[in-house]
Amino acid sequence: MVRFDSYTPGTAADEGTYGQLERGEILFFPNSPFELSGEDRTFLVSQNKTDASYHKNISYRPAQDRLKGLSQKDPEARRRMGQVMRDYSRRAIEFTRSFLPRYAERWRVDYASFRPVEEEGRQLSFRSRNDLLHVDSFPTRPSGGDRLLRIFTNANLSRPRVWITSDNFEQLAHQYGREAGLPGEPGLWARFRNQGLTFLSALGLPVVPRSDYDRFMLRFHHFLKENSAFQESCPKQRWEFPPGSTWMVFSDMASHACLSGQFMLEQTFFVSRASLLCPEKAPISILENLAQRRLAD
Ligand SMILES: [Fe+2]
Repeated sequence: MVRFDSYTPGTAADEGTYGQLERGEILFFPNSPFELSGEDRTFLVSQNKTDASYHKNISYRPAQDRLKGLSQKDPEARRRMGQVMRDYSRRAIEFTRSFLPRYAERWRVDYASFRPVEEEGRQLSFRSRNDLLHVDSFPTRPSGGDRLLRIFTNANLSRPRVWITSDNFEQLAHQYGREAGLPGEPGLWARFRNQGLTFLSALGLPVVPRSDYDRFMLRFHHFLKENSAFQESCPKQRWEFPPGSTWMVFSDMASHACLSGQFMLEQTFFVSRASLLCPEKAPISILENLAQRRLAD
């Protein structure tokens, strides 16, 4: 972890920091480098959901200014939640743009989300569990080899968010890549299926065409969560992110799990391979090296 105890607003990361981030280090700001007002935090922690059927996340799509996953019927509460999410997303994007300018020109801004449910003891399906170590891969939004950068803020007023991390993706891919089905050349059927899915998607049908890279990353996410020997025996580091703190990480590189915490905000970016300081350290490059072939266009 790299700490920024006294961050001066407007300061951009140096090359050393980009390198650490791309290798899977967490950049940690004990005092959030952008504002989340006291009133906004008080509103967020009033959204106290214990109902197991409640959505895992409330998401906000900045490009469409659209809120999803909120079961709240009260129009005033919906309006307020929309405003808080919009403000958080805008400030997180502004900060990340000024701190990591080399990514900003070519990144795709993804969704923001709010996690209103206590993580400890949650009843979730196995593959959705957050308390098992994994690297991120989004089933509905394949990255095509771009990287997943996420910035998080703990909006809780009194309790930390607790994570564990383990070896990074490069180490895990070398150790488990083949066992997890690192693909060789695709067969005729796989190629035919991919072309079919791309065609159906172009027609507007709700299918998700995935590159070989995205298929592997999704499989690897499940493989790690289902591998109890890995979960039990791997080296672990424990991190506490206090109330009001912010941290960022390439979540496709740092294996991570969330043990406890409630009321977290988060903004995700797809960072283009072309804008990385060390493109050879991107998960897709590591896998293409191991597989000795291209895994995405
Ligand atoms: Fe994750």
